[in-house]
Amino acid sequence: MPVVRSLLPALVLLSVAVPAFAQSPILAATLQESALPVAPQGAKYLGPGSCAAAACHGGIQARDATKVLQNEYSTWIVQDRHARAYNVLLQPTARRMAQILNIGAPEKSQKCLVCHALAVPDAQIGRPFDLSEGVSCESCHGPSSLWLGPHVEATARHADMVKLGLVDNKDLIVRAEKCLTCHLGAPGMQVDHAMLAAGHPDLTFELDSFSSIEPPHWVERAPDQKQPIADPLFGVRIWSVGQAVQLRESMLRLARDVRGPVWPEYTEMDCYACHHSLTKPEDSWRQAAGYSGRRPGNPPYNMARYVVFRHFAKSVDPSAAAELDRDLSEVYALASDLQPDRARLASAADTAARAASMLEGEVRSAAYDAARTSALMSAIAGDADAISFSGERSAEQATMALDSLYIAETKQSAPQPAVRSAIDGLYKMLENPSAYNAPAFAAQMHRVRDALGSS
Ligand code: HEC
Ligand code: HEC
Ligand code: HEC
Ligand code: HEC
Repeated sequence: MPVVRSLLPALVLLSVAVPAFAQSPILAATLQESALPVAPQGAKYLGPGSCAAAACHGGIQARDATKVLQNEYSTWIVQDRHARAYNVLLQPTARRMAQILNIGAPEKSQKCLVCHALAVPDAQIGRPFDLSEGVSCESCHGPSSLWLGPHVEATARHADMVKLGLVDNKDLIVRAEKCLTCHLGAPGMQVDHAMLAAGHPDLTFELDSFSSIEPPHWVERAPDQKQPIADPLFGVRIWSVGQAVQLRESMLRLARDVRGPVWPEYTEMDCYACHHSLTKPEDSWRQAAGYSGRRPGNPPYNMARYVVFRHFAKSVDPSAAAELDRDLSEVYALASDLQPDRARLASAADTAARAASMLEGEVRSAAYDAARTSALMSAIAGDADAISFSGERSAEQATMALDSLYIAETKQSAPQPAVRSAIDGLYKMLENPSAYNAPAFAAQMHRVRDALGSS
């Protein structure tokens, strides 16, 4: 059964950092569902120094006698880019960005700090800490003042800590949403096209791959369990829940953008529909394909967060997936029109967000096995044309998905060199996104499909 979560009031999501402009009624109207907890009254931030002691989370070596590794701080400070998220604001690219945007010093601007540091309102600071510590423990785990003491007790239960303000990152829906506040955006936390044009990297995200890159300072365990989760396909679960949440959040972002001051907001469109070089008519794959569903030359809405996930949705709940298909077609048609009925588009995006959110619970609890994983890989690779012609960003998502699924699958079965090399071929075709070629990418996808079929 789908899990319908409560409709939380708009701003709970931002107990972390809510600049005043995020509280406009227009923005508030768009945020409907959030899995993120409301921090309890009085919960305050104490900074990463509170976790750093060697007997706490600052050990050098991972321990295996305890429920957690206890070297989390060391992993974060040495290997995790989040620890340097504030420092990048001091670099020349950030300076130039701030100059172009006319926002003063980037390391002092809330426009940047909301995602690059633990920048919380003064009233929520329990003990002084330094912004320069970047994206730190409480940016992901929530304000610790109420649970810091209790969580080290032998009797501490995860669910009780969550009541005291610990973010329940063991719930993959919550975890994905937490990452996406910064990696996709949330009210008051936005990377818009003006920021991209000024030099900010584009935001792309996929929960499973990004968790491996971070790198993880944890072992996946169920609440209160010492034993790691044994499921070799847990990566598939992480991938699919991440996709479902990302779809919901991208619909909510679209609704915010449509209701905002700038529309069309180009970050919602396929970047490389605009950012590619012109060719002779006889060499143009775009002209050969025609411009189905939109006026020729209009930038299309970026469907990357849907075209791959829809195959998974279909395997989990065909009727919910059919509904999502209808909702997304409506969103695509309206958003790919330069002057759509904005109220209609915003409400279509809200509807799609609700449909995606209904599926999240099912995706989280779906049964994952080798057969489903391999059927899913075949379905994605077999949908080569539709995915490839949805643009470079969709091709990227398909590549990351096939890679994640392949890695998960071969954790319990023999490696398949032909599949591996065909997927590597996909990555090669994305090296220069402005030169992306849909028919060539589709042909490589067919090679993946054939390699899968012959294994
Ligand atoms: C919505 C959250 C968000 C906001 C707001 C934001 N950033 Fe970022 N920024 C990110 C994320 C996430 C990344 C990492 C992107 C990736 O690699 O996938 C990043 C990366 C960067 C990088 C590249 C860092 C590197 O290691 O190369 C720079 C520079 C940067 N941001 C500067 C800024 C500046 C300056 C501002 C304010 C004008 C700003 N950011 C606002 C989320 C944000
Ligand atoms: C970018 C987000 C992020 C940051 C920053 C972060 N964590 Fe985590 N942490 C996670 C996620 C996701 C998990 C896995 C979910 C879980 O086990 O709770 C996790 C797991 C853990 C665990 C294991 C919990 C358990 O019950 O198994 C500990 C302990 C931990 N983190 C401590 C820290 C400390 C200390 C810091 C700061 C030095 C930190 N984390 C910074 C996201 C983050
Ligand atoms: C408070 C905002 C915030 C949250 C929450 C957050 N991130 Fe990030 N993340 C950033 C910023 C900012 C950067 C860029 C840092 C830099 O370049 O130094 C970044 C960088 C990264 C990178 C490095 C990307 C690259 O191109 O190498 C990975 C991987 C990553 N984040 C994964 C995650 C995951 C997984 C989660 C959730 C468990 C998460 N992040 C939660 C803000 C955040
Ligand atoms: C509707 C067309 C359109 C779309 C879609 C679009 N852009 Fe742009 N972009 C532009 C225009 C126009 C400029 C300004 C170019 C100029 O002034 O020369 C620009 C400028 C830029 C620049 C600075 C140009 C440079 O040479 O450094 C970057 C980077 C950029 N866009 C990235 C993106 C990304 C990433 C996306 C997708 C998330 C995107 N754009 C989507 C039209 C678009």
